[in-house]
Amino acid sequence: MAEQANDLMEKLVSLCKRRGFIFQSSEIYGGLNGCWDYGPMGVELKRNVKEAWWDSVVRQRDDMVGLDCSIIMNPKVWEASGHVVNFNDPLVDCKGCKARFRADKVYHVVFFENGNPVHAAWVEADDEQSAGREAFNRANSKTRRRMQLHQEGGRFETEIRRVDRLPSDVKALCPLCGHELTQPRKFNMMFKTYVGAMEDSSSIAYLRPETAQGIFANFKNVIDTSRMKLPFGIAQIGKSFRNEINPRNFTFRSREFEQMEIEFFCHPSQADQWYAYWRDARFQWYLSLGLRSEKLRLREHEPAELAHYAKGCADVEYAFPFGISELEGIANRTNYDLSQHAKFSGKDLSYFDEETKERFIPYVIEPSAGADRATLAFLCEAYAEDEAPDENGAMQKRIVMRFHPRLAPIKVAIFPLVKKDGMPEKAQAIYAACKKASLSAFYDEKSAVGRRYRRQDEVGTPYCVTVDGQTLTDDTVTIRDRDSLKQERIKASEVVRYVQERIGAGGM
Ligand code: GAP
Repeated sequence: MAEQANDLMEKLVSLCKRRGFIFQSSEIYGGLNGCWDYGPMGVELKRNVKEAWWDSVVRQRDDMVGLDCSIIMNPKVWEASGHVVNFNDPLVDCKGCKARFRADKVYHVVFFENGNPVHAAWVEADDEQSAGREAFNRANSKTRRRMQLHQEGGRFETEIRRVDRLPSDVKALCPLCGHELTQPRKFNMMFKTYVGAMEDSSSIAYLRPETAQGIFANFKNVIDTSRMKLPFGIAQIGKSFRNEINPRNFTFRSREFEQMEIEFFCHPSQADQWYAYWRDARFQWYLSLGLRSEKLRLREHEPAELAHYAKGCADVEYAFPFGISELEGIANRTNYDLSQHAKFSGKDLSYFDEETKERFIPYVIEPSAGADRATLAFLCEAYAEDEAPDENGAMQKRIVMRFHPRLAPIKVAIFPLVKKDGMPEKAQAIYAACKKASLSAFYDEKSAVGRRYRRQDEVGTPYCVTVDGQTLTDDTVTIRDRDSLKQERIKASEVVRYVQERIGAGGM
């Protein structure tokens, strides 16, 4: 299972590089851990993800406005929000090989057979489930076979303990070399910089670790200028930065990433209702763009997992090949943030309800998503291998990215069957019409048409149009569906409408 998952991730990473979705940042200099660049296909895909989000939470609603705040803000923002003191990860170092880990990502896993320990391992993993899988992979083949045989017999038991929850007298060991790990210590994840010419403590500023605080800091500006009345939300898409101890799983945990965040302000008495509303609405959004329900789940946090100011929190999780992991968190943040900013700034951030004549600090429901994580989930979901006929009708293996048409980087590719007899000119005219309609289109006249189809399948283009001999007599073209492989003949003048109807709202 785990091998298959690694295999899938490897194939996906390789396709992302080969076809221009995602590259390592500054690759020609050996890269930079935790930073990624989106290539020509990736930038279109991620842009479509962000557009779909913005359309659904801002443009399609009348209770939401947008914002685009600066990345570097007055450092007091981060004192008020608690990030300067609390935005820490527990860090452990290996005393032998000097590797660094997040203590909450290192596990000790022990397998017992009939109550006796038969295999133990220290592993680095995102959660208990992945830790168990990783430890299983490290067991010798005999133990693995016995465990598989007895999986349902109940003779095997597993104990999984996180390093930062071990009793202090238990020595934690390095998952890489087996030497002892240090005790966990706090490591603040905000990137520091200096503003202005002086590099001293008075000029320290931070790259924002979340976009949310820019929204809170502008709450009064928006109220005063937009005439929004409660309940209403403010949405923002933008870069955030976290000095993650161990960036991993491709773009899943990066040091520079993009967030898509909503702060939805409401009366405290309505917070529970809005929390449930946003939790369900956000879950549905992922489904509507093609993530399968069996791979998605909504997980309510246990009370012990909640931040001290939060009244409720649920994660939308996706079954990535490397394990079930968080895509988005929806939290009831109470009036914590606005109260903190009111206290630290000395400004009144309360809201006056004209109808009830009540003055109060609104509660906030926060659906906070990652644009890169969502994009990675859509990439994982889309990847498929199957067979398609080549130009001679023989079945050939193909890789196909089955993106939801709305997310596909290219919506339609246009090919002349051959480079003569006026076919390129006709195909160019259809291509121009698609561009004019703001459809992301691609023109290709090189190599055999079967190969051209295959190249489009690999980047997930839902429709390919071919201009052939018949086009020159009756002005019809074939249009091929990426998934069903069916080809229809339609009028050349109908191509734009045909594609627009099938890719859903927005065109793009
Ligand atoms: N304002 C709340 C907040 O920032 P979070 O759970 O820390 O909450 C929200 O982050 C979302 O941002 C996550 O669900 C994830 O999608 C994305 N995210 C957080 N850290 C990330 C990282 N290091 N790399 C990529 N995406 C990340």
